[in-house]
Order: sequence, then C-alpha cells, then structure tokens
Amino acid sequence: MVVSDSPSPGGHRTPGPDPKLPSDTHPPLGGATEAEALSRQVQDSLVLGTRHRFWETQPVGQFKDLGDTSLPDGPIEPPTPRSDVKQDPYNLPAPYEWTTCDMDDEQTCDEVYGLLALNYVEDDDSLFRFNYTKEFLCWALRPPGYFKAWHIGVRVKATKKLVAFITGVPARIRIRDDVVRMAEINFLCVHKKLRSKRLAPVMIKEVTRRVHLENIWQAAYTAGVILPTPITTSRYWHRSLNPKKLIDVQFSRLGARMTMSRTIKLYKLPESTVTPGFRKMELRDVPPVTRLLRKYLSKFVVAPDFDEDDVEHWLLPRENVINSYLVESPETHDITDFCSFYTLPSSILNNPNYTVLKSAYSYYNVATATPLPQLMNDALIAAKQQDFDVFNALDAMENETFLKELKFGPGDGHLHYYLYNYRVRNGLKPSELGLVLL
Ligand SMILES: CC(C)(COP(=O)(O)OP(=O)(O)OC[C@H]1O[C@@H](n2cnc3c(N)ncnc32)[C@H](O)[C@@H]1OP(=O)(O)O)[C@@H](O)C(=O)NCCC(=O)NCCS
Repeated sequence: MVVSDSPSPGGHRTPGPDPKLPSDTHPPLGGATEAEALSRQVQDSLVLGTRHRFWETQPVGQFKDLGDTSLPDGPIEPPTPRSDVKQDPYNLPAPYEWTTCDMDDEQTCDEVYGLLALNYVEDDDSLFRFNYTKEFLCWALRPPGYFKAWHIGVRVKATKKLVAFITGVPARIRIRDDVVRMAEINFLCVHKKLRSKRLAPVMIKEVTRRVHLENIWQAAYTAGVILPTPITTSRYWHRSLNPKKLIDVQFSRLGARMTMSRTIKLYKLPESTVTPGFRKMELRDVPPVTRLLRKYLSKFVVAPDFDEDDVEHWLLPRENVINSYLVESPETHDITDFCSFYTLPSSILNNPNYTVLKSAYSYYNVATATPLPQLMNDALIAAKQQDFDVFNALDAMENETFLKELKFGPGDGHLHYYLYNYRVRNGLKPSELGLVLL
C-alpha cells in the first residue's frame, strides 16, 4: 500500500486490479513519476525473466522492442481479407462450450452478473470485489453499433453453468491524427475454480477472431497486470466522502496524529453545489456537450472520437449507472462546463457491518468557464448527496490539477492501458491520455 503524502490521512486500497509483481521487491512507488515506475516495473519483469507465452505471439508492442526507434508507430500487422479470417470458433477443452450472451435476455444478464459478482477483480488482500450491476453491464455492453457476437461466454457442457466471460464493444479511438475503429475489450473473467488452465488466451483469441470478422483490427484494453506493453500507466486516487465507513472496512486508514472526528471534519463538504447554473445533463444538451467534449478531447494523444450518438449513450444520466452534470451560464445559457462519474459498487468481503462500498468513478470532465477544481468539487458534492462512500479518479487527462487540492489520496492500484495491433513507440504520460475504459 502506498502511504499518502497528500492531505489525505493514511493510504487507500484500490478495490480494483493491482500489479501482481512481488511487492516485497519494490519500495513504495510514492515520489516516482508514473513513467519511472512503469520503466522500473518493466525492467523488473525483464530481470525476473517473466515470459509471456501467449502475449509474445500476439501483435502487441513487445518488451524486447522497447527503445527501438526504427519501428514505426501504427498498426503492427495489416488487415487480412475477411475470407482469410478463421471461420469457426477456437477449440475449448472438451468439457466446455462457447455461448453468445444475449444481454437483452434477463436470465442471461443474471448469469453474467452472478459470474462477475463472485469471480471478477479483487484487491490484493481480497477485501473488495467489483460488483458491476446488471443495469451497468447492459449499458456498458450495448453502445451504438454493438455486436451481440462480441459478448462471449463459456459454459460447462454438462450443466450449462456459465464459467467464463469476455466482451468487446466497438469504438472509434484517435491516436494522434489517426482515428481507428477498435474493439474495447472488457470483463475478462474465468471462474475461480478454472484458473491457470490457459483458458484466458483462448478467450482472447476468440474475441479477436470475432472482431476481425467485422473488419476491425485494433483493440484497446486495461489491466492491473503488466503485459507486453502498456502505452501508459495510470494510478487511482481516492477522495473519501464517508471516511468513517472507509476506515471501518479497511479501505483507508486513520492518518498519523488524526482522530476520527478530525478526519470526518477534514472531508466534510457543503450540502449543495456552489457553481451557478450547475445542473444535471438532459437529452437536449447532447449537441452542446458533444461539441464541448470533442474540442476538449482533441488535446490528448489518445482519446475517443465521440459523436452525438456516443455522447447520448455514454453520458446521458442513467440512475445508478452514469451521472452527468453541466454548467449552463445563467446569462447566455451556453453550456460551458461538464463533469461525469459512473457508479461502480464493490462488494465488501467478510465485514460484519457492511456489504457494499458505493464508489463513484470520475469519467469525462471539461471545464472552460469554471475552474476545474471548483467543477470537480461540485461533482464531489453531487456524489455525496447521492450517498457515495468514495470518489475515485485516475491521474489521466488534467486530473492531476485538482487531485491534491480536493483531498484525493493516491491508492495502491495502477491501471495499465494497452492497444492491440497498434504500436505507440514512446509511451504516453497519463496526462496525455484522454480515454477512460469502464
Ligand atoms: C484474468 C483471468 C481471466 C486470467 O485467467 P487465469 O486462469 O488466471 O490465466 P490463464 O491460465 O487462463 O491465462 C494466462 C495468460 O493470460 C494472461 N492474462 C492474465 N490476465 C490477463 C488480463 N487481465 N488481460 C490480458 N491477459 C491476461 C496472462 O498474462 C497469461 O498469458 P502470458 O503467458 O502470455 O503472460 C482470471 O485470473 C480472472 O478471472 N481474474 C479475475 C478477473 C480479472 O482480473 N479480470 C481481468 C480484468 S483486467
């Protein structure tokens, strides 16, 4: 766990993916830049001689090519004709079969929810596990132009029990000046009892095959583990909204020389938002929000290329899923600022008093007239009004400009960003990244 040097008392555990490198080989990462930390971790895996039997065979940046300036940025392999794409699914071990998960079907949705609720990402100490809700999964998996065939499950033939899952959704992602059709790959999960049997590589190959069948040749994904080779590494920061509960469930610790009542006071927020014209986003706001967001995202090296349909899907508020607010100028009625966060609870494992941690995750934020820290403070107030326990944000985009000021503390979770079949030679600083994957 990284001990905070910010106004936050104590460290924070990230209820998400953690790097799986042996932690006792590392001094705490605090103080190092992300680039230094990443380079050290990659060096470590080289020193440790970590082989990636699967990933070494895939068109991804390889560790051995780090620093090779002769390799061009862009696609690693060219597309092949559709007729050359393998037409039938990859073979699974005999007891298992492929299934396409129809997320419109209530029972399938329940099964996917159940698999993830019990087997998806946990923190290193198994205190928390992501608990994506059914509404969230239906939203995340059905954006404009989605392909049902990309929602892939594995069942036990004999019992039909769902034991593994992987998904893709289509997206346009810009890398420098190149807008690329991609799949965003997410929700890779293998039942706990079936781990380490090399099922994940088969699932990754199968989703890749189905993506190729749609004439799409690139993908974006994130992981808490180091694979060949991240385009950037971002860290989660956490802003306590309900510090007493967070300490009770061991999400955070009481800081040195701090009492509970001083801690509660430190994190207290005003009852209502402060920016005049701050309100919830509505359907009629889609065009101006799209304009605002497109202009803002053009600043980053890697970012989604959102159109109005994307904005309507990804950013229009949905209860218990996505929360979006904007500032409408009281004088001109122009939409000048925008902020959003999604709802991703975690199950609290084995605590006598609490079962669910209600977490908000910062999504896309744009400030043009309001200072970004003030806008984000209003987002914190809105989250507190909705009874969230914690507000999480990556140090991507311009987030570093408000994290410390708003009393976020660094967590112990790092999130590595990857592209499939697209080389970005020099890597990015988190502040050059304008992409948030769910
Ligand atoms: C991630 C998970 C599906 C991997 O399955 P597993 O049974 O542990 O591993 P397998 O034996 O099937 O496969 C191992 C291969 O998958 C790769 N792999 C493991 N996790 C991966 C990930 N998150 N993304 C991509 N590849 C991954 C490994 O690096 C290894 O390949 P390599 O030899 O080239 O390094 C499984 O551990 C799991 O369900 N964990 C909980 C949920 C989770 O963390 N999901 C990923 C969220 S990013």
